[in-house]
This record gives sequence, structure tokens and C-alpha cells, in this order.
Amino acid sequence: MDRRTFLKFNTLGLASVSFAYAMDHSKMNHGTMDHSNHNNMNTSFIDFAPKDLKLLNINEIASGKKLAPLTLLKNESKEKNFFRATIEIAESEIEIAKGKKTKCYTYNKLIPGPKIEAYEGDTIEILVKNKLNEATTIHWHGMPVPPEQDGNPHDPILAGRERIYRFTLPMGSAGTYWYHPHPHYTTSKQVFKGLAGVFIVKAKKDALSHLKEQDWVISDLRLDENAQIPSNTLVDWLNGREGEIVLINGQLKPKIEVDNQRIRIYNFCAARYLNLRLSGAKFVLVGTDGGLIEKPVEMQELFLSPASRVEVLITSDKKGEVKLESTYYNRDKMMVKESPYTLHLADVNIKNSAKNIPQILRQLPPLEEPKNFKEIIMSEDHHKMHGIMKKSESEMKSALASMFLLNGKVFDMKRVDERSKLDETEDWIIINKSHMDHPFHIHGTQFELISSKFKGELKKAEFRALRDTINVRPNEELRLRMKQEFVGLRMYHCHILEHEDLGMMASLEVVEK
Ligand code: C2O
Ligand code: CU
Ligand code: CU
Repeated sequence: MDRRTFLKFNTLGLASVSFAYAMDHSKMNHGTMDHSNHNNMNTSFIDFAPKDLKLLNINEIASGKKLAPLTLLKNESKEKNFFRATIEIAESEIEIAKGKKTKCYTYNKLIPGPKIEAYEGDTIEILVKNKLNEATTIHWHGMPVPPEQDGNPHDPILAGRERIYRFTLPMGSAGTYWYHPHPHYTTSKQVFKGLAGVFIVKAKKDALSHLKEQDWVISDLRLDENAQIPSNTLVDWLNGREGEIVLINGQLKPKIEVDNQRIRIYNFCAARYLNLRLSGAKFVLVGTDGGLIEKPVEMQELFLSPASRVEVLITSDKKGEVKLESTYYNRDKMMVKESPYTLHLADVNIKNSAKNIPQILRQLPPLEEPKNFKEIIMSEDHHKMHGIMKKSESEMKSALASMFLLNGKVFDMKRVDERSKLDETEDWIIINKSHMDHPFHIHGTQFELISSKFKGELKKAEFRALRDTINVRPNEELRLRMKQEFVGLRMYHCHILEHEDLGMMASLEVVEK
């Protein structure tokens, strides 16, 4: 949508600041499937929250408690280099607001899910029991897992069924990963209902293995006045949903103590962009999604688009309490007008600043020259937005399910969009020709940003880093270098989960050389 259309929406008074409903719900028939769309597009997964939805008062949630560490997933194996465990996926009632039970989807009855911690070289065997009334998968985000073990939408675990995911963690794969569902059309819903967990792969020894660790899992949640998780609004479907309640390890505004530690930070939010800062202290970036970077980099602010992770240390001249905040990031949302705001996420007590930080953290192998190129264009079909408010519910759903595109197409499970050769280094040029930010993610590998082009200015990457997810601004062009080391089908998509469900996704087939 261009600026003019955007303004038009706003002058019509159809969007409000905190919670926008820009649609006529009177025509809607909630909770029924919609079969009336004109083409054969599936839109039955799109549903809308009731118009008169009232949100929970955030004061009903306890805050200010000491940050609890994540619960570890227990290794049931006695064998060396073998990790065996069970994950049960079910609907559970969790007390998030005082005295109220929230129906959530959970991994082993926990939000966030249990933390998996394993070592390079380990073989992982996880039995997954799906006790939900719907299909799901577990996708091992960012990890070098064979495609048939990676929870692709093509391999659902049907309701009531179970399966075992089995893979071996290669040497050099130490990094900060996570796992979440990836079923066709319903990933965003299953994640905002609570399904996501941390997966850390450790090296037996690395430059920072002497340090104690902490995890800060940042997620967001929306609760209605009865403390239940409502469906998306139209605005959520357009921009990705940002839950009003932002949590760290499932806690509201916790008190955190940091004592010269290695901290892994995760953005589990479906669509919320984080721009973290510490009042009176600094971050030292030491790692990204795929593990340690080469040298520490001091940072005043940490930008984390959805699904990104970092490893940091904290330095400060003085001891004592500082605020962890997320400052506003304007990502050009549709149909909402926000005034910039800063989120207070936690109070951090710095007991000891990081000291003696090694100046060499890791040596990455020399960059390989690309043998091939691919161009991926992110776009939005603006015509679909015209008069969206006047449309019937089914027309609105069809518009949603056909407007977020990769190389001009909506995702089709039966189509292969790109092919790559096994172990062949490629440059992927990701171009955002839409009007809003989209975080690009590809399965099965870690890439390096080589350069970016924005408003005519070409910039080389400031440092080498392994990532699997990266934000692309409107009119920005990124050059990413990568290779795939397993034969089979991989997905790449926008990691705003609503966009993924609406079809801003495609598939890559990796073939033998
Ligand atoms: Cu984290 Cu295909 O996703
Ligand atoms: Cu992924
Ligand atoms: Cu997107």
C-alpha cells in the first residue's frame, strides 16, 4: 500500500492506535468455515477475533519476580553422545493472569517449551506425541538437520499421532537455535498459543565456555479479558500479530541478575521487532544465530527482528540496576498509526561487568566464492488492499491469502520454486519491493551477509556472522552467501508468521551435483 492509500485509511478513522479493527464484523459469521471464495484458494485457516474483544488488564499478571531459568528437557539416554527425550504437545491450562486459567498449546506443559541442550557430535532422538486436535510438526529453526527430519509442512504429525525426529549435530554447528511448529497455514496460531522452545548446541570447548550462561527468551502474548488467547484481527493478518504482553522466559518484567555471564537472547515473537538497550550499560555482541562471531563488537543497541538470536556479554562502568528496554522500530505497518513508544522489559542488576573478554572468539573458514546466484523478490499485491473494508469476509480472506508474495507467487506445497546443487556455494540476492519490512529466513543452513544496498548506497557487511534470519527493509537489497549440505526440500519464507501462513514462502530443492 502506498502512502496515499495509507493516509486514506487513517482519515476514514478506521484505524486506532493500540488496537485496530478496520472491518465490518457485522457481516461475519464467526467460527464457521468459509467455502465461498471464488477461486480454489484455501482461506479456511483465516479467522478473526470478535469485534468487541476486550483485552486483559496487564496488572492482572504478576511482575517483578526473579527471572527463572528455562526448564531443561531431560536426556533419557545413558549412552555417550546420545540425547533422547520425549516432547508431548497438548492443550494445557496455564496460570498466566492471577487466578485465571489460560488455554494454551504447550510442549511438556511449559511456556516457553523445555530447553534442549546438546553438544556438537551428539545424536538427537526426540519422540514427539501430538495430543492436539490438529496437525503439527516440529521445525528445528536454523539447525543443520536433514530435510525429512526438519518438520516441513509436507510432513505433518497428524492429531493424536506421534513420530521420532532423529538427527546428528555436526561438528562446527554450535549455536543458538530454537524449535517451533511449521504446519501448513497454522504456524502463527500454534506459536502464539505457546509452542516454541530453545535448542542450544554447545561446543565442548569454545572461547567463552568458561562463562556461566543465561537465556532471555522474549515472546509476546495477547490475552482477552478472560485471559484467553484470541484469534487474529485483520490488522494482525496484515502486519503480523504483536501481543501486548511481552515476556522474558514467560515472565512479565522480571528482575534479572547478571554476573559476568554469556547471555543468549531470542526473539520468539511472531512479528514484534526488538531494539534492545540497557540504560547505563552496553552489550558486547559475541554471537549470532549460528554461533560465535570472530571478534566481540560493542553495541549500544541490539536489533532483533522476529526469529533472530544473539549471544552477548554486558559491560558497565558501575554496578547496580539498569533497565532493559526495547525502543520503537518503525516497520511501516498497514492500517495502523502508532506513536513511538519504549517498552520496559526487565530490570537488570549488574553484579559484575564482563571482564577479560577474549579478543578472538572464533576463526570462520575463508569465504568461498559463489558458483551461482538466485534472486528472491519480496512484494505485496497492493491492488488487493483497495477497498478491503468494503469487501465481504470471504473476499477479504482471499485478498489476504493472495497478497504476500515471493517472486510474484503465493506458496504452493506442490511446487518447487528454486533448485540448488548440494554443497555448491551460492549468493542469494533478497530484494524487498514491498512497503514494509520482512525478515527473510531459510531452512537447513546458516548464511553470511556479504553486502546490502539501500537507497543507492552499497554497504559491505561490518563483520562476518552466521545467521539464518535477517531483516530486509523496503527497497533494500541483501546479498547472502550460503550453501546447502543435504539433499531434499527446504523452505524459505518471511518470518512474520502470519505472512508465512498467508503464503510468503517458497521451496528449494537441493539436488545431487
Ligand atoms: Cu522458524 Cu520456517 O521457520
Ligand atoms: Cu526455520
Ligand atoms: Cu513478511
